[in-house]
Amino acid sequence: MKGIILAGGTGSRLYPLTKVTNKHLLPVYDKPMIYYPLQTLIDAGIKEIMVVSGRGHAGHFLELLGSGGEFGIHLTYEIQEEAGGIAQALGLAEDFADDGSIIVILGDNIFQDNVYDAVESFRSGARVFLKKVMDAKRFGVAEIRGSNIVSIEEKPALPKSNLAVSGLYIYDTKVFEIIKKLRPSGRGELEITDVNNEYIRMEDMSYSMLSGYWSDAGTFESLFRASELVRNIKLNI
Ligand code: DAU
Repeated sequence: MKGIILAGGTGSRLYPLTKVTNKHLLPVYDKPMIYYPLQTLIDAGIKEIMVVSGRGHAGHFLELLGSGGEFGIHLTYEIQEEAGGIAQALGLAEDFADDGSIIVILGDNIFQDNVYDAVESFRSGARVFLKKVMDAKRFGVAEIRGSNIVSIEEKPALPKSNLAVSGLYIYDTKVFEIIKKLRPSGRGELEITDVNNEYIRMEDMSYSMLSGYWSDAGTFESLFRASELVRNIKLNI
């Protein structure tokens, strides 16, 4: 399976930290943010990884990560010309995916879990990874009935559960046809939540619960918390 790290977008919620520097290059404790999603894919056994980033910063990613050789993997790069949404960024990886299944991770998401087994056992459809959170309103929120996800709502005012959909997804090759049929949301983006709801509609969606910590790092509070989580684990406190 190939992997894709989505590191486009504007990082506007972290302004002025992101005025000059790309969000995914900001420090999370002792490493640039993008090292964490990269390591999650490497730990999942992924060897071929594409980094999708916005115009203007692509050279920085190349300088930082190079061919991937020092991590024992092979990296390729793709440019998202405008921040048209997570699903739009993913659509750019169609040729790279080459009709195979893919694991997709958001460049500002930090996971403790190892998802090697989920990758190994994946056959078809889609899989998302859920985590109980206090502030579900900030995320895609899953509604579960029995062992099924029945819906995902993007940043609902009144969340139906406290289960956030984290920024880690496994898809079969149908994902690219689904993306082509999407319409922009109210915020003018092609939404990954719309992709996931289409898999739910086709009854082809499964999920795993994350057991370790998970944080995004796209706001001042979550960036701070992510650094703290990483530091606590590292120093064993
Ligand atoms: O962190 C998990 C959440 O990420 C999910 O629960 C939501 O369902 C999902 O929509 C997303 O929500 P955010 O609003 O927090 O996503 P954000 O716009 O901050 O983008 C997250 C990452 O996705 C960003 O670090 C890079 C990538 N991205 C985003 C956009 C808008 C792109 O590569 N291109 C883009 O155009």
